[in-house]
Amino acid sequence: MIVSDFLPDIRTVYYLEKQMNTYYETEHYKIYNENCLDYLKTVDDNSIKFVITSPPYDNLRKYQGYSFDFENIAKELARTLAEGGVIIWNVADATVKGSETGTSMRQALFFMELGLRLHDTMIYEKKNPMPASVSSKRYHQAWEYIFCLSKGTPTTFNPFMVPAKYGHVEANMKHRGADGELNYKKTKRNSHTKVRNIFTYTIGGGHSTTDKEAYGHPALMPEKLAEDQILTWTDPGDTVFDPFNGAGTSGKMAVKNGRTYIGTELSKEYCDLSKHRIENTLTDLQKPINRLFETE
Ligand SMILES: C[S@@+](CC[C@H](N)C(=O)[O-])C[C@H]1O[C@@H](n2cnc3c(N)ncnc32)[C@H](O)[C@@H]1O
Repeated sequence: MIVSDFLPDIRTVYYLEKQMNTYYETEHYKIYNENCLDYLKTVDDNSIKFVITSPPYDNLRKYQGYSFDFENIAKELARTLAEGGVIIWNVADATVKGSETGTSMRQALFFMELGLRLHDTMIYEKKNPMPASVSSKRYHQAWEYIFCLSKGTPTTFNPFMVPAKYGHVEANMKHRGADGELNYKKTKRNSHTKVRNIFTYTIGGGHSTTDKEAYGHPALMPEKLAEDQILTWTDPGDTVFDPFNGAGTSGKMAVKNGRTYIGTELSKEYCDLSKHRIENTLTDLQKPINRLFETE
């Protein structure tokens, strides 16, 4: 018998020493008012199917209780991500002393060094970007990265489809026969095709979300962005995890679409905001069902 067999797992010790501060929990969602790094240390290896998040971008915004230990958080995310699991990492660079920082790309490369695939670099295009000043020598910054990182091949992929341009027309396919002659054969084309990996959203007041209170948070992810990614990489009943919960946008879109949700957030105020938004969404989902049972 070797000595280490008697030693409890280091993560169990950690968990026992520091119980997680569960802010709120229902059968649909759970929010921890905690540092995501502390939470992740309590999570088993290869157990999280889907993560969607937008971490603090360089030092662009002031959050209450800001703390972002990127490398250790990335290591924990890579360790806890399930085989076939996906991380959607929405980021952008600050411009410092005239240069973009390159932080976003460095983060994607770091995840690759940890063994994850850079499965797809998607673009979040802003239909109405903040204009750059006329005097600046740059075009308007109109997009952000949506890195899709995966452990192996993603288990779930439900792509958005659109009608193919020539889907209704039969193709004239060439086949060379055994005698070497070219034969033409009418072949049905696919009627639909996957959308491109550029997702365009109108952002800002009334667009990113219609929840007025959500703008109490300085860096909202557009709800539609979160929803599109959740629908693509998860099935109903799956769990969505956002380590940088913010105002709870991922959680709101998760429960709206029949997924369960776990979020971690340092600021108590943003936990309050998230709970309110998610509860309102769950109440709205109940409304049509209740009406079925209403009597005159
Ligand atoms: C860019 S915002 C996320 C916004 C969110 N996607 C939304 O739409 O509301 C990042 C959030 O991460 C929180 N945060 C920063 N460091 C954290 C950490 N180590 N653990 C948990 N939350 C953290 C900040 O307080 C902030 O609310």
